Amino acid sequence: MSDSPLASSASSVSSAKGAAPQLVERAAALDAADVLAPLRDLFVLDRPATTYLDGNSLGALPRHVPARLQDVITRQWGELGIRSWTESGWWTAPERIGDRIAPLVGAAPGSVVVGDSTSVNVFKAVVGAVRLAAPAGDAAVPADGTAVPVRDEILVDATTFPTDGYIARSAARLTGHRIVPVDPAAATGPGSLLGSLGPRTAVVLVNHVDFRTGRLHDLPGITAAAHDAGGLVVWDLCHSAGALPVGLDAHGVDLAVGCTYKYLNGGPGAPAFLYVAERHQSRFDSPLPGWNSHADPFAMSPDFAAAEGAVRGRVGTPDILSTLALDAALDVWEGVRIEDVREKSLALTDFFLECVAEYAPPGRVRSLTPAAHAERGSQVALRCAEAPAVMAALIARGVVGDLRRPDVLRFGFTPLYTGFADAERAARVLGEILAEVPAEVPAQAPAETSVEGSAESPAATPRADAGPGANE
Ligand SMILES: Cc1ncc(COP(=O)(O)O)c(C=O)c1O
Repeated sequence: MSDSPLASSASSVSSAKGAAPQLVERAAALDAADVLAPLRDLFVLDRPATTYLDGNSLGALPRHVPARLQDVITRQWGELGIRSWTESGWWTAPERIGDRIAPLVGAAPGSVVVGDSTSVNVFKAVVGAVRLAAPAGDAAVPADGTAVPVRDEILVDATTFPTDGYIARSAARLTGHRIVPVDPAAATGPGSLLGSLGPRTAVVLVNHVDFRTGRLHDLPGITAAAHDAGGLVVWDLCHSAGALPVGLDAHGVDLAVGCTYKYLNGGPGAPAFLYVAERHQSRFDSPLPGWNSHADPFAMSPDFAAAEGAVRGRVGTPDILSTLALDAALDVWEGVRIEDVREKSLALTDFFLECVAEYAPPGRVRSLTPAAHAERGSQVALRCAEAPAVMAALIARGVVGDLRRPDVLRFGFTPLYTGFADAERAARVLGEILAEVPAEVPAQAPAETSVEGSAESPAATPRADAGPGANE
């Protein structure tokens, strides 16, 4: 595949102006063969006006959710009132819904609990992991009585979503540890995650998929290497839960967090989840022990006794409306195999990159997303010098992706409701817009490659922040 002039293959047989017939036909054939295609009707999508490629930020609304929430509000709350804490299962919703998410991330029942934001769960998981990593007893207390951790380093993905970095730094200050920024994508060398592991490693905090580039990090390999070094690993699954198989138990992950408003379609501000591996649950010592984490909350005891299992990761009263919107949204996963989701996700992103190569004028966009399937999540990030103007024009023409300042166009592919015709249309509209928007600066990115090549190292990528109201 190579950069080619926009619309070079346009033909009269194509339904849309400027469309390449071979791509339109391929898209139609791929959509016809798609086993997940029937699921699209389960979602509210403004078709055909809008091609929604932002499910990596906010998932689409499943059609049945409004009616379910209506019932929660009018009957459960309005009629049953406080009785709903027991009669409508409100009290146990965090662990019950955690058990519904568990199979999607390869976790055993009882090891996932829903609640709070991802940010708050990062705090619980990192401090909890530091406490699990600390040697039992007095081994870390020198003769002078000063508590000095033997393992005093928290390794953090240098290109992490910012909140994880901020919270890890605060957790490090609270626990007397130091932060070591590392590159999870580099195999070896100074600054690489694997090369930084050692006897001082307490905890490693890594994003499974880089929010900006879409790079998938090696969860099995990094987890095993951290364990070999005697440390624990916390994975941030925000961009992988519901997008690809994670295999938390199979790969021996210690703790994990993730959000539910992206690929799990739980709705804006839906509660996050916390995973605590079964083997750690009895020693997991949450830094936020609330009355909901108590073994007997209604004893109202002044003394804390942690509940059994991941439930001890709860804190206070759950946000029932959001939690039950998520519960309803998860119905779309009934009978869906995450392996099928992954297969379609890779096919979609491959096809989109191929369409971009066909439609985009040469040199105007460069892919930051790895070409290798083993290194790719479910989004495509394109570096484009005119990204702000281009994304505004895309949205105005009904192709909804997002912008990460200063120059990244992000397109999320959600296999439950994104089709191959969507990918073709998005790339075609992008090509049209690029032909209209003058090139401001010649594309110069020696570390990157064009859309058909592999991506730059994420460590070399400046961080981008989310715009107001945006979720990564
Ligand atoms: C990778 C990652 N981690 C953490 C967060 C923060 O999540 P929250 O705002 O729900 O705390 C996000 C948000 O988009 C994210 O993408």
